[in-house]
Amino acid sequence: MPWDKLANADIAYTFGDVILLPGKTEIEPSEVDVSTRIGPMSFHIPLISSPMDTVTETEMAIAMARLGGLGIVHRNCSVEEQVAMVKAVKRAESFIIRDVVTVSPEDTVERAKTIMKEMRISGLPVVEDGRLKGILTRRDIYFAENGRYKVKEVMTKDVITVTEDITPEEARKIMAKHKIEKLPVIDSEGRLIGLITAKDVFARESFPFASRDKEGRLRVGAAISPFDLERAKALEPYVDVLVTDVAHFHNENVIRAAKRVQDEVSVPLIVGNLGTYEAAEEVLTRLDPIGLRVGIASGSICTTGEVTGVAAPTLYAVAKVSDAVLNYGADVAVIADGGIRGPAEAAKAFAVGADAVMLGYALAGTKESPGSPIIVGGKMYKMYRGMGSPSARAKRFALDRYSKPAKGIPEGIEGLVPYRGDVATVVNEFVAGLKAAFGYVGAANIKGMKEKARLAIVTSIGKKEIAPHDVKPMETRP
Ligand code: XMP
Repeated sequence: MPWDKLANADIAYTFGDVILLPGKTEIEPSEVDVSTRIGPMSFHIPLISSPMDTVTETEMAIAMARLGGLGIVHRNCSVEEQVAMVKAVKRAESFIIRDVVTVSPEDTVERAKTIMKEMRISGLPVVEDGRLKGILTRRDIYFAENGRYKVKEVMTKDVITVTEDITPEEARKIMAKHKIEKLPVIDSEGRLIGLITAKDVFARESFPFASRDKEGRLRVGAAISPFDLERAKALEPYVDVLVTDVAHFHNENVIRAAKRVQDEVSVPLIVGNLGTYEAAEEVLTRLDPIGLRVGIASGSICTTGEVTGVAAPTLYAVAKVSDAVLNYGADVAVIADGGIRGPAEAAKAFAVGADAVMLGYALAGTKESPGSPIIVGGKMYKMYRGMGSPSARAKRFALDRYSKPAKGIPEGIEGLVPYRGDVATVVNEFVAGLKAAFGYVGAANIKGMKEKARLAIVTSIGKKEIAPHDVKPMETRP
């Protein structure tokens, strides 16, 4: 019997192969709601920053959560470094800080100054045997020359305190009334159990759509290898979600390892990357993740397809995986990952079933990505590299993703991307473009996009017509 492999071959459409057709609309772009849900977490915007060492560390994760999305901190570092990064996100804006940095009344002012400088904090509660004795602020130490005084000699003893049941609004009023920046939280026996800072209370108002956990802290995710249970356990207390970072998740050893992480760690999981209906089917029947990372080899820095001839382009993969999710009636978010340069690709991903998109390239050029801008030929750039690129692989901790099982070749490149300024500006432009796309389709939200969107295939010749043509552009477009 002939195999007929080519006759039965699927067509793996990519973002560039399709367009969204305009549909009758009753809503304006400004009315579109692009919020989404991944398991127990709701997000104002459906954008997630990639766990890559040139994309997401503390600063990016804080910025993404403040904007209403999510950052996944990369794992191309030691466990301690990754834990420190996620802890810094959680500390960035908690309403009540729990792991409060304190000094004792017997400490010297010099020591207090050093702590303040190193931890970049402006005031320290003074604690003896767990009980609050006073508070030391910059104002208190200002005149304590040489820092030879003891903390108890200069601290403010008359401290205004609150109890744990205080609301952000009440805290704000107390701080405004007494013109104070720090509000220690004590229990019924006067033990210090937390601290509220003016910075955090006011930050909440500046970012009304921020993604926050139950305690008001910014949400953050972290990448793990499913084989690295130790890392998963170290991150468990500080993250909202763990995200597996595997180029090809549909692998028996990987699935078994992820099952073990799922059984032994209480934080929800996003798993991937998946590329086919069958891969999704296997995950949905054997694991219980809250999200699926979908797309293989579409990433802007990815050479997997070129090197191996294997790929499941993100648009194709999302369509297939979404079919499986629908057929199984699973409550799991589909996250399109790779090749999403801007709102056009994102809109197409939502049209075929995505609930959120993961961005590497689109965020790598922003101020908040790791590293400083580089000037080349008078223009500013930032470095962006694949986690399977030679230099990322050279960092020992990246090896388990792209070298297991025994891959001897790089599957990513490194290069420069134009510097694009604040992530907030980039994300706001992205969301505006997305809302415009929803408006054309006539979809009020992501669910509507999935239901209403119709796609058409464009030819490679026709593609030129739907981009600017024949005119030399005068300025750089966003
Ligand atoms: P974009 O297109 O947003 O893609 O830059 C980011 C996604 O690409 C994946 N990734 C890689 N894929 N080799 C790969 O095959 C690599 O070295 C590599 N590094 C990252 C990853 O899924 C990321 O979110």
